[in-house]
Amino acid sequence: MNSKNTTTSPILVLGTTGKTGRRVAQRLRKKGIPVRIGSRSATPAFDWENQATWADVLKNIKAAYITFYPDLAVSGAPQAIHAFCQLAVKSGIEHLVLLSGRGEEEAQRCENIVKSAGTAWTILRSSWFSQNFSEGFIRDFVLAGHIALPAGAVREPFVDVEDIADVAVAALTESGHAGELYELTGPRLLTFSDAANEIGKATGQPVQYTQIPQQVFIKTLTEKNVPAETIGLLDYLFTTVLDGRNEQLTDGVHRALGRQPRDFSAYAQKTAANAAWQK
Ligand SMILES: NC(=O)c1ccc[n+]([C@@H]2O[C@H](COP(=O)([O-])OP(=O)(O)OC[C@H]3O[C@@H](n4cnc5c(N)ncnc54)[C@H](OP(=O)(O)O)[C@@H]3O)[C@@H](O)[C@H]2O)c1
Repeated sequence: MNSKNTTTSPILVLGTTGKTGRRVAQRLRKKGIPVRIGSRSATPAFDWENQATWADVLKNIKAAYITFYPDLAVSGAPQAIHAFCQLAVKSGIEHLVLLSGRGEEEAQRCENIVKSAGTAWTILRSSWFSQNFSEGFIRDFVLAGHIALPAGAVREPFVDVEDIADVAVAALTESGHAGELYELTGPRLLTFSDAANEIGKATGQPVQYTQIPQQVFIKTLTEKNVPAETIGLLDYLFTTVLDGRNEQLTDGVHRALGRQPRDFSAYAQKTAANAAWQK
């Protein structure tokens, strides 16, 4: 792989405070590449819900890492991605790197919008993040020692967001990744119960797993005042996307980086060692 650095202008990282964006920004800074922060709390601010904020963050930007919030599968996402890409190309952007989701038809519509935007593109089509257990909505369940979710025997190739960040940085800073769609998975298929066991082994505190009916899950989220849009998204992910369609491993990490992806047990051990599951 050609590792020539092709940019010294700032790289825009949307979701700089999120799971992948934070790691992408850290890696770019370590390489001495300036980062334009994409966050509602940055100056200039970036807000997906306010198009008037988009032009300022795109000024003098040659490449961007695009993470949409909350998910490319929500209604309005294709329109937002289309409008953002049009503006980015008009602003002179030369490379768009999109974080996408595996097995989501709607996300694939957004991928196509990026591909046809009129500039170089790379798609990172990712499976469920391992870090959902430590930095996302499943963390509270882990802290309680009991994960209760609607997923049963279905297996998911959880991917470590450190790998996603490595691929994103390679795509943003090296030649050879334009026009590539990388399907990013971990190296192993695990049920949610397997994942709970791995975390229990790593922390020394057993984590129980129980499959609960979808309606009970939705009712619990509603009682906890989780926003309706988030409930709709989780309902869709657990009923439609986690139906077995993603039960295959892919070679995306290897193709992009020339090495194997990190395993879930390594993630669990490292996360436990960093005290991320301490109350
Ligand atoms: N989680 C997974 O397993 C998974 C798997 C595959 C793909 N994905 C994709 O990853 C993306 C992010 O997923 P995540 O749930 O893990 O979130 P995340 O990246 O950890 O964090 C959310 C980020 O979104 C930003 N944000 C929230 N509302 C925003 C708004 N209105 N405008 C601009 N930025 C906003 C937040 O920034 P500020 O608060 O600083 O503004 C924060 O940086 C989604 O597109 C999803 O489809 C996720």
